[in-house]
Amino acid sequence: MDCDVKDLGLAEAGRTRIEWADQEMRVLALIRERFEKERPLDGIRIAACLHVTTETANLIRTLVAGGADVALCASNPLSTQDDTAAALCEDLDGVDVYAIKGEDNETYYRHINQVLDHHPHLTMDDGCDLVTLLHRERKAQLAELLGGTEETTTGVIRLRAMAEQGILAYPVVAINDANTKHLFDNRFGTGQSTVDGVIRATNLLLAGRTVVIGGYGMCGRGVASRARGMGARVIVTEVDPLPALEAAMEGYEVMPMREAARVGEVFVTVTGDTGVLRREHFEAMRDGAVMANSGHFDVEIDKLGLAELATSVRRVREFVEEYTLPDGRRLNLLGEGRLINLAAAEGHPAAVMDMSFANQALSVEWVVQNHEELEARVYGVPDEIDRDVARLKLAAMGLAIDSLSAEQTAYLNSWEQGT
Ligand code: ADE
Repeated sequence: MDCDVKDLGLAEAGRTRIEWADQEMRVLALIRERFEKERPLDGIRIAACLHVTTETANLIRTLVAGGADVALCASNPLSTQDDTAAALCEDLDGVDVYAIKGEDNETYYRHINQVLDHHPHLTMDDGCDLVTLLHRERKAQLAELLGGTEETTTGVIRLRAMAEQGILAYPVVAINDANTKHLFDNRFGTGQSTVDGVIRATNLLLAGRTVVIGGYGMCGRGVASRARGMGARVIVTEVDPLPALEAAMEGYEVMPMREAARVGEVFVTVTGDTGVLRREHFEAMRDGAVMANSGHFDVEIDKLGLAELATSVRRVREFVEEYTLPDGRRLNLLGEGRLINLAAAEGHPAAVMDMSFANQALSVEWVVQNHEELEARVYGVPDEIDRDVARLKLAAMGLAIDSLSAEQTAYLNSWEQGT
């Protein structure tokens, strides 16, 4: 066992929290039972760069049950749950963990390198930092790779750019593109956990407060609907006319950030792009405004610009930095502008990660079975896997659905029948 975690003494606390999450991850548990019998990953080494949470721990247990050796590091310096990292390290043979909450940038990249020192056959990434480092600095290892998976929107965008430039050296499955991933994890997971993170960090009352959501993709939809559900007045900002129109017809106010900056009290960025909140917006914001990011990277709120503008900065609560501007206004940045749902809360709830990670486990198995036919490009999750995950999740929730009669099927397949 080779680990770099904060404190192995935290393992007992991690163990019970992993069990707690497991109770909500019934689909993954079914896959784990099958993996234990069939061992589809025997002899496979996996390098995983994921948020080190109790939900991830249950995914790792599943991969190990399938026969894999796993080396795990964090996909964000602030998202590791130290008790989970300790429990994984102590309890599971065949797992090495390199992750400490709050690690600096140098340690973050050292840990990614340590994971790659295991000479993986497969990569499992969340945000594409592992794959990028492999392609930039460890090219000699690329030939050892059979394939990989990528969890998130931002990572898939980076991978597609690599594929388009002809740089991507092996096949990678875009887990995010599965319907049973982005329609649930991005919307209901990010929605609930982001609001949870903002509340845990600040203890603010959302009822009656003006909340500005930057970006109306799947994540933005989730955050907007949860904030509205708690009584906030919700404003959406967008750059794309289609989601902007959807937000307007959903009943949200839609306006440019320049205008929203003057009226917002809580700002949440979820665009996946850089500089969404910047100097011109800070200059317009009200005293006491709170800013949080739930996009993958800490680039959506211009932290440097904010620091340059401020005359002083102080930590006022565990995840709140208060920046005072020359005219005395105070602007609050949550969780250093990093993913607030994982920095100040516990990430998406286990019940939704169950589906995302079921897609991960089944896609890894698919890559191992099919790698000889796959090319060096980005693949979607096979439709059969996506539909299986939906079916299993419904069953786990105790929900039954109807099926088509022969007459209905024939009707749907015909074009002759009109009025
Ligand atoms: N991404 C968002 N929430 C997560 C969680 N709970 N575990 C792992 N990755 C996540």
